[in-house]
Amino acid sequence: MHDLIEQAASDLVASNHAIVLTGAGISTESGVPDFRGPKGIWTTNKQAEAQAYQRYERFLNDPKAYWEEMLGTVGSGSDFYRQMREVAPNPGHHAIARLEQMGIVKWAITQNVDGLHEKAGSQNVMHYHGTVEKLRCLSCGSRFGIGEFSLEKLPPLCRCGRPLKYDVVHFQEPIPSDIMDAAEEEAMKCDLMLVCGTSAVVYPFAALPAMARSRGRGQSGVKIIEVNAEPTPLTHQGISDYLIQGKTGEVLPVVVDEVNKLMGQRRKHE
Ligand code: APR
Repeated sequence: MHDLIEQAASDLVASNHAIVLTGAGISTESGVPDFRGPKGIWTTNKQAEAQAYQRYERFLNDPKAYWEEMLGTVGSGSDFYRQMREVAPNPGHHAIARLEQMGIVKWAITQNVDGLHEKAGSQNVMHYHGTVEKLRCLSCGSRFGIGEFSLEKLPPLCRCGRPLKYDVVHFQEPIPSDIMDAAEEEAMKCDLMLVCGTSAVVYPFAALPAMARSRGRGQSGVKIIEVNAEPTPLTHQGISDYLIQGKTGEVLPVVVDEVNKLMGQRRKHE
Protein backbone atom coordinates (compact mmCIF):
# COMPACT_ATOMS: atom_id res chain seq x y z
CA MET A 1 0.00 0.00 0.00
CA HIS A 2 2.84 2.43 0.75
CA ASP A 3 3.89 2.38 -2.91
CA LEU A 4 0.43 3.54 -3.89
CA ILE A 5 0.56 6.25 -1.22
CA GLU A 6 3.92 7.48 -2.62
CA GLN A 7 2.42 7.31 -6.12
CA ALA A 8 -0.57 9.38 -5.03
CA ALA A 9 1.72 11.95 -3.39
CA SER A 10 3.84 12.36 -6.51
CA ASP A 11 0.70 12.54 -8.70
CA LEU A 12 -0.68 15.30 -6.43
CA VAL A 13 2.58 17.26 -6.49
CA ALA A 14 2.70 16.94 -10.30
CA SER A 15 -0.91 18.09 -10.71
CA ASN A 16 -1.97 21.61 -11.72
CA HIS A 17 -5.66 21.39 -10.85
CA ALA A 18 -6.54 18.68 -8.36
CA ILE A 19 -10.02 18.27 -6.88
CA VAL A 20 -11.38 15.93 -4.21
CA LEU A 21 -14.73 14.12 -4.25
CA THR A 22 -15.95 12.76 -0.92
CA GLY A 23 -18.72 10.59 0.46
CA ALA A 24 -19.98 9.30 3.79
CA GLY A 25 -16.94 7.05 4.22
CA ILE A 26 -14.72 10.02 5.12
CA SER A 27 -16.95 10.86 8.11
CA THR A 28 -17.37 7.41 9.67
CA GLU A 29 -14.20 7.93 11.73
CA SER A 30 -15.97 11.03 13.15
CA GLY A 31 -18.83 8.82 14.33
CA VAL A 32 -21.25 9.62 11.47
CA PRO A 33 -22.43 6.28 10.03
CA ASP A 34 -22.28 5.78 6.25
CA PHE A 35 -25.18 4.36 4.24
CA ARG A 36 -24.10 1.29 2.29
CA GLY A 37 -20.99 0.13 4.13
CA PRO A 38 -21.21 -3.02 6.35
CA LYS A 39 -22.52 -0.89 9.29
CA GLY A 40 -24.31 1.62 7.00
CA ILE A 41 -27.71 3.16 7.91
CA TRP A 42 -29.45 1.71 4.84
CA THR A 43 -27.63 -1.63 5.25
CA THR A 44 -28.82 -2.01 8.87
CA ASN A 45 -32.19 -0.19 8.79
CA LYS A 46 -34.33 -0.73 5.69
CA GLN A 47 -37.25 1.19 7.27
CA ALA A 48 -35.08 4.31 7.58
CA GLU A 49 -34.21 4.03 3.88
CA ALA A 50 -37.89 3.74 2.92
CA GLN A 51 -38.67 6.81 5.06
CA ALA A 52 -35.84 8.75 3.39
CA TYR A 53 -37.35 8.04 -0.03
CA GLN A 54 -40.63 9.72 1.08
CA ARG A 55 -39.10 12.84 2.59
CA TYR A 56 -39.11 15.10 -0.47
CA GLU A 57 -42.71 14.17 -1.35
CA ARG A 58 -43.69 14.87 2.25
CA PHE A 59 -42.20 18.34 2.07
CA LEU A 60 -44.04 19.10 -1.17
CA ASN A 61 -47.38 17.85 0.26
CA ASP A 62 -47.15 18.93 3.92
CA PRO A 63 -44.13 21.12 4.89
CA LYS A 64 -45.23 21.23 8.57
CA ALA A 65 -45.30 17.42 8.84
CA TYR A 66 -41.91 17.33 7.10
CA TRP A 67 -40.39 19.60 9.72
CA GLU A 68 -41.98 17.73 12.60
CA GLU A 69 -40.41 14.54 11.29
CA MET A 70 -37.03 16.19 10.67
CA LEU A 71 -36.92 17.69 14.16
CA GLY A 72 -38.05 14.39 15.63
CA THR A 73 -40.99 16.05 17.40
CA VAL A 74 -43.41 13.60 15.77
CA GLY A 75 -43.04 9.88 14.89
CA SER A 76 -39.88 7.79 15.27
CA GLY A 77 -37.52 10.37 13.76
CA SER A 78 -34.76 11.90 15.92
CA ASP A 79 -33.15 15.29 15.35
CA PHE A 80 -30.43 13.43 13.39
CA TYR A 81 -29.23 16.64 11.73
CA ARG A 82 -28.75 18.44 15.10
CA GLN A 83 -26.59 15.52 16.28
CA MET A 84 -24.64 15.73 13.02
CA ARG A 85 -23.88 19.41 13.68
CA GLU A 86 -22.12 18.36 16.90
CA VAL A 87 -19.51 15.92 15.53
CA ALA A 88 -15.85 16.85 14.91
CA PRO A 89 -13.72 16.36 11.77
CA ASN A 90 -11.14 13.56 11.70
CA PRO A 91 -7.58 13.32 10.24
CA GLY A 92 -9.07 12.55 6.80
CA HIS A 93 -10.87 15.92 6.68
CA HIS A 94 -7.79 17.69 8.05
CA ALA A 95 -5.59 16.11 5.36
CA ILE A 96 -7.82 17.50 2.60
CA ALA A 97 -7.82 20.95 4.19
CA ARG A 98 -4.02 20.70 4.38
CA LEU A 99 -3.77 19.90 0.64
CA GLU A 100 -5.94 22.96 -0.09
CA GLN A 101 -3.68 25.16 2.08
CA MET A 102 -0.69 23.86 0.08
CA GLY A 103 -2.44 25.12 -3.10
CA ILE A 104 -2.72 21.57 -4.52
CA VAL A 105 -6.44 20.87 -3.99
CA LYS A 106 -8.64 23.52 -5.59
CA TRP A 107 -12.06 22.23 -4.51
CA ALA A 108 -13.62 19.58 -2.27
CA ILE A 109 -16.93 18.43 -3.78
CA THR A 110 -18.82 16.47 -1.14
CA GLN A 111 -21.99 14.40 -0.92
CA ASN A 112 -21.85 14.81 2.85
CA VAL A 113 -24.26 17.18 4.58
CA ASP A 114 -22.26 17.29 7.86
CA GLY A 115 -20.15 20.42 7.24
CA LEU A 116 -16.99 18.64 8.49
CA HIS A 117 -14.74 19.80 5.64
CA GLU A 118 -15.21 23.42 6.68
CA LYS A 119 -14.77 22.53 10.36
CA ALA A 120 -11.40 21.04 9.36
CA GLY A 121 -10.42 24.31 7.64
CA SER A 122 -11.33 23.72 3.98
CA GLN A 123 -12.42 26.97 2.28
CA ASN A 124 -13.47 25.72 -1.17
CA VAL A 125 -16.26 23.21 -0.56
CA MET A 126 -19.23 22.39 -2.81
CA HIS A 127 -22.17 20.71 -1.07
CA TYR A 128 -23.56 18.53 -3.84
CA HIS A 129 -26.29 17.13 -1.55
CA GLY A 130 -26.70 20.31 0.50
CA THR A 131 -25.84 20.84 4.17
CA VAL A 132 -27.53 20.55 7.59
CA GLU A 133 -26.21 24.03 8.35
CA LYS A 134 -28.62 25.71 5.90
CA LEU A 135 -32.26 26.02 4.79
CA ARG A 136 -33.26 26.47 1.15
CA CYS A 137 -36.29 27.76 -0.72
CA LEU A 138 -37.36 25.56 -3.63
CA SER A 139 -39.26 28.48 -5.12
CA CYS A 140 -36.67 31.29 -5.28
CA GLY A 141 -33.53 29.20 -4.59
CA SER A 142 -32.44 31.34 -1.61
CA ARG A 143 -30.34 29.70 1.10
CA PHE A 144 -30.18 30.78 4.77
CA GLY A 145 -28.10 29.80 7.80
CA ILE A 146 -30.16 27.54 10.09
CA GLY A 147 -29.44 29.97 12.94
CA GLU A 148 -31.51 32.64 11.19
CA PHE A 149 -34.78 30.82 12.04
CA SER A 150 -36.30 29.87 15.41
CA LEU A 151 -38.03 26.71 14.10
CA GLU A 152 -40.65 27.33 16.83
CA LYS A 153 -43.30 28.11 14.20
CA LEU A 154 -43.31 25.47 11.44
CA PRO A 155 -42.73 25.51 8.53
CA PRO A 156 -40.16 28.34 8.50
CA LEU A 157 -40.97 30.75 5.64
CA CYS A 158 -38.67 32.30 3.04
CA ARG A 159 -38.68 36.06 2.38
CA CYS A 160 -40.63 35.21 -0.78
CA GLY A 161 -43.30 33.71 1.50
CA ARG A 162 -42.77 30.07 0.44
CA PRO A 163 -41.96 27.32 2.99
CA LEU A 164 -38.28 26.52 3.50
CA LYS A 165 -36.80 23.02 3.69
CA TYR A 166 -33.47 21.80 4.88
CA ASP A 167 -30.80 22.55 2.23
CA VAL A 168 -30.13 18.80 2.28
CA VAL A 169 -31.05 17.18 -1.07
CA HIS A 170 -33.40 14.25 -0.41
CA PHE A 171 -33.92 11.23 -2.66
CA GLN A 172 -36.05 12.11 -5.73
CA GLU A 173 -35.16 15.80 -5.29
CA PRO A 174 -33.27 17.50 -8.17
CA ILE A 175 -29.71 18.70 -7.42
CA PRO A 176 -29.74 22.55 -7.35
CA SER A 177 -28.46 23.60 -10.80
CA ASP A 178 -25.87 26.09 -9.46
CA ILE A 179 -24.05 23.31 -7.58
CA MET A 180 -24.49 20.71 -10.34
CA ASP A 181 -23.06 23.05 -13.00
CA ALA A 182 -20.13 24.12 -10.82
CA ALA A 183 -19.22 20.49 -10.02
CA GLU A 184 -19.34 19.47 -13.68
CA GLU A 185 -17.17 22.44 -14.59
CA GLU A 186 -14.52 21.22 -12.14
CA ALA A 187 -14.77 17.63 -13.42
CA MET A 188 -14.09 19.01 -16.92
CA LYS A 189 -11.22 21.24 -15.70
CA CYS A 190 -9.27 19.06 -13.25
CA ASP A 191 -6.14 17.03 -14.11
CA LEU A 192 -6.38 14.97 -10.93
CA MET A 193 -9.48 13.71 -9.09
CA LEU A 194 -9.10 12.13 -5.64
CA VAL A 195 -12.26 10.14 -4.81
CA CYS A 196 -12.58 9.38 -1.08
CA GLY A 197 -15.04 7.33 0.97
CA THR A 198 -17.86 6.86 -1.51
CA SER A 199 -19.50 3.72 -2.93
CA ALA A 200 -19.93 5.74 -6.17
CA VAL A 201 -23.43 4.35 -6.87
CA VAL A 202 -25.60 7.45 -6.35
CA TYR A 203 -26.21 9.58 -9.45
CA PRO A 204 -25.75 12.20 -10.72
CA PHE A 205 -22.70 12.63 -8.38
CA ALA A 206 -21.28 9.22 -9.35
CA ALA A 207 -21.13 10.41 -13.00
CA LEU A 208 -18.44 13.03 -12.22
CA PRO A 209 -15.45 10.61 -12.36
CA ALA A 210 -16.65 9.16 -15.69
CA MET A 211 -17.09 12.71 -16.99
CA ALA A 212 -13.46 13.47 -16.09
CA ARG A 213 -12.30 10.11 -17.47
CA SER A 214 -13.92 10.98 -20.83
CA ARG A 215 -11.12 13.54 -21.19
CA GLY A 216 -8.53 10.78 -21.48
CA ARG A 217 -5.61 9.44 -19.42
CA GLY A 218 -1.93 10.21 -19.08
CA GLN A 219 -0.17 13.53 -19.67
CA SER A 220 -3.06 15.39 -21.33
CA GLY A 221 -5.80 13.50 -19.49
CA VAL A 222 -6.94 13.07 -15.90
CA LYS A 223 -5.53 10.97 -13.07
CA ILE A 224 -8.31 9.44 -10.94
CA ILE A 225 -7.30 8.01 -7.56
CA GLU A 226 -9.69 6.26 -5.14
CA VAL A 227 -9.22 5.98 -1.37
CA ASN A 228 -11.90 3.67 -0.03
CA ALA A 229 -12.41 0.75 2.35
CA GLU A 230 -13.59 -1.44 -0.53
CA PRO A 231 -13.52 -1.46 -4.34
CA THR A 232 -16.34 0.40 -6.13
CA PRO A 233 -17.79 0.44 -9.67
CA LEU A 234 -15.08 3.03 -10.47
CA THR A 235 -12.49 0.35 -9.63
CA HIS A 236 -14.28 -2.50 -11.43
CA GLN A 237 -14.98 -0.44 -14.58
CA GLY A 238 -11.41 0.88 -14.70
CA ILE A 239 -12.57 4.50 -14.42
CA SER A 240 -10.11 5.11 -11.61
CA ASP A 241 -6.37 4.64 -12.28
CA TYR A 242 -5.85 2.96 -8.91
CA LEU A 243 -7.52 2.32 -5.52
CA ILE A 244 -5.77 2.77 -2.18
CA GLN A 245 -7.85 0.38 -0.08
CA GLY A 246 -7.98 1.57 3.51
CA LYS A 247 -9.47 4.09 5.93
CA THR A 248 -9.38 7.71 4.72
CA GLY A 249 -8.48 8.89 8.24
CA GLU A 250 -5.38 6.67 8.14
CA VAL A 251 -4.37 6.88 4.46
CA LEU A 252 -4.83 10.60 3.66
CA PRO A 253 -2.57 11.96 6.47
CA VAL A 254 0.24 9.67 5.22
CA VAL A 255 -0.32 10.95 1.68
CA VAL A 256 0.05 14.51 3.01
CA ASP A 257 3.29 13.59 4.82
CA GLU A 258 4.67 12.19 1.54
CA VAL A 259 3.56 15.34 -0.33
CA ASN A 260 5.34 17.42 2.29
CA LYS A 261 8.54 15.36 1.81
CA LEU A 262 8.41 15.78 -1.98
CA MET A 263 7.70 19.52 -1.71
CA GLY A 264 10.67 19.81 0.69
CA GLN A 265 12.97 17.96 -1.73
CA ARG A 266 11.71 20.10 -4.60
CA ARG A 267 12.45 23.33 -2.67
CA LYS A 268 15.97 22.06 -1.86
CA HIS A 269 16.70 21.59 -5.58
CA GLU A 270 15.27 24.97 -6.66
N1 APR B 1 -12.48 5.10 5.00
C1 APR B 1 -12.64 4.74 3.69
N2 APR B 1 -13.80 4.24 3.18
C2 APR B 1 -14.81 4.07 4.07
C3 APR B 1 -14.70 4.38 5.45
C4 APR B 1 -13.46 4.92 5.91
N3 APR B 1 -13.27 5.28 7.17
N4 APR B 1 -15.90 4.11 6.05
C5 APR B 1 -16.72 3.62 5.08
N5 APR B 1 -16.06 3.60 3.88
C6 APR B 1 -16.59 3.26 2.56
C7 APR B 1 -17.67 2.19 2.56
O1 APR B 1 -17.08 0.93 2.46
C8 APR B 1 -18.46 2.56 1.29
O2 APR B 1 -17.84 2.01 0.13
O3 APR B 1 -17.21 4.44 2.08
C9 APR B 1 -18.30 4.09 1.21
C10 APR B 1 -19.54 4.87 1.67
O4 APR B 1 -20.53 4.66 0.70
P1 APR B 1 -22.05 5.06 1.00
O5 APR B 1 -22.42 4.62 2.35
O6 APR B 1 -22.85 4.56 -0.15
O7 APR B 1 -21.99 6.65 1.03
P2 APR B 1 -22.01 7.66 -0.20
O8 APR B 1 -21.28 7.11 -1.36
O9 APR B 1 -21.57 8.96 0.32
O10 APR B 1 -23.59 7.73 -0.52
C11 APR B 1 -24.01 8.64 -1.50
O11 APR B 1 -26.31 8.26 -0.94
O12 APR B 1 -27.67 7.79 0.77
C12 APR B 1 -27.34 8.77 -0.11
O13 APR B 1 -27.47 11.11 0.04
C13 APR B 1 -26.82 10.00 0.58
O14 APR B 1 -24.89 11.35 0.02
C14 APR B 1 -25.35 10.03 0.19
C15 APR B 1 -25.33 9.27 -1.11
